[in-house]
Amino acid sequence: MAEIAVIGAGYVGLTLAVGAAHLGHNVSVGEPDEERVCALLAGNCPVFEEGIADLLEEGLTARRLTFMTSNVEAIESAEFVFLALPTPSAPDGSADLSVLHAVVDELAPHLGDRVLVLKSTVPVGTNRDVTARLRTAGCLAPVVSNPEFLREGTALADFMSPDHVVVGGDDPEAVAQVGALFDLGCPVTMTDPMSAELVKYATNAYLATRVMMANSFADLCEVLGADIDAVTTGLGRDHRIGPHFLRPGPGFGGSCFPKDARALLDLADRHGLNSPILAAAVEVNAARQERMADQVMAAVDGVEDPVVALWGLAFKAGTDDTRESPALNIGELIAARGANVQAYDPEAVAGDPIRLCESALDAATGADVLVIATEWPEFTGEDLAEVAKAMRGDLVIDLRNLLDPEAVRTAGLRHRRVGKPEQG
Ligand code: UDX
Repeated sequence: MAEIAVIGAGYVGLTLAVGAAHLGHNVSVGEPDEERVCALLAGNCPVFEEGIADLLEEGLTARRLTFMTSNVEAIESAEFVFLALPTPSAPDGSADLSVLHAVVDELAPHLGDRVLVLKSTVPVGTNRDVTARLRTAGCLAPVVSNPEFLREGTALADFMSPDHVVVGGDDPEAVAQVGALFDLGCPVTMTDPMSAELVKYATNAYLATRVMMANSFADLCEVLGADIDAVTTGLGRDHRIGPHFLRPGPGFGGSCFPKDARALLDLADRHGLNSPILAAAVEVNAARQERMADQVMAAVDGVEDPVVALWGLAFKAGTDDTRESPALNIGELIAARGANVQAYDPEAVAGDPIRLCESALDAATGADVLVIATEWPEFTGEDLAEVAKAMRGDLVIDLRNLLDPEAVRTAGLRHRRVGKPEQG
């Protein structure tokens, strides 16, 4: 078992830390936010993520997991130092590496020959840039890229049973050591640092584009009178395509797809390349959310002081994250156009101009239209007869094709879905 340091206790760092401790490694986490460190040491999990709280308690009890505000102390007995730091989009779309650089500079005098592992999603070339930065500071630590593919909501399950692991670096021994660290029985791609960094961006860019393809097919279904479920089922049964990431909806959001797509476009641009396919996916995604907002506003056209119920704020079910959330974006767009938006989400929150409600039924009360923007399974358990009674109007715009059409019809409501004929 290894001695591991993780710098950064966000979604990625925390999942890695509790998962590694669960596998038997000793893990010290460096995190600058003192309040977060205190909460974690007390066993309070600051993120809403299935299974993390239990493994946090397990790691703390077994004394295999600890948290501290000093990064330098966190790496003291480590053989491997994982950086799981934020790399947000800069205003020009490029990835902002200032936090990563600051930590590399801070750790350089203390790293010695520990293996530095880059877990954050970073532009292709960062591994070699960080290596050069370390060498300038007189540090000879090998740098290995080991991108994460965790999805929010299923992060721990993805960590424990990954489809594959990618490890890249210029020092083959360090690459092999990191590859062996998480030998979870899945294929491991060992490669150069540039390829390892690109796999991550390519995966997210491909999946984001694929979601937009499914949405384009849904648009076609609506004008042609075809059914998107039949189309995606047919597509998914072709083994060259497969069934995943073909669900139509309000577009893609979250902390990765939009940011990584922009960063890849920026990277291509810097090298004088056009990426028209990816650029189109990003543009179509933004336009789609505008169009969904238009659709909602058209449904309340002529209504004085319209009220719109919004079920869902998170960018997808299973998380409280609203970063680049289509649900929140659509809510804000229609609020800006004069709708009174009453929202309910089981986990996520929003502030002005959206009014946050205590329950789904509360949000529906007095609404002219009900918009379902996040696919929370619990929405399917709502008493639709009560919802229909509480609403002022009778239209449900179901952007996730979540509700059972028969149940909606029986409740006396009209049901508009994505890529499906309207009902009622
Ligand atoms: C994603 C990647 O899947 C993960 O590998 C990476 O590490 C981080 O980014 P995540 O952001 O948690 O994970 O969400 P994901 O489940 O991939 O969904 C991304 C977006 O696409 C969401 O807005 C989701 O609603 C949307 N989506 C996804 C669809 O609209 N349809 C689909 O079929 C799948």
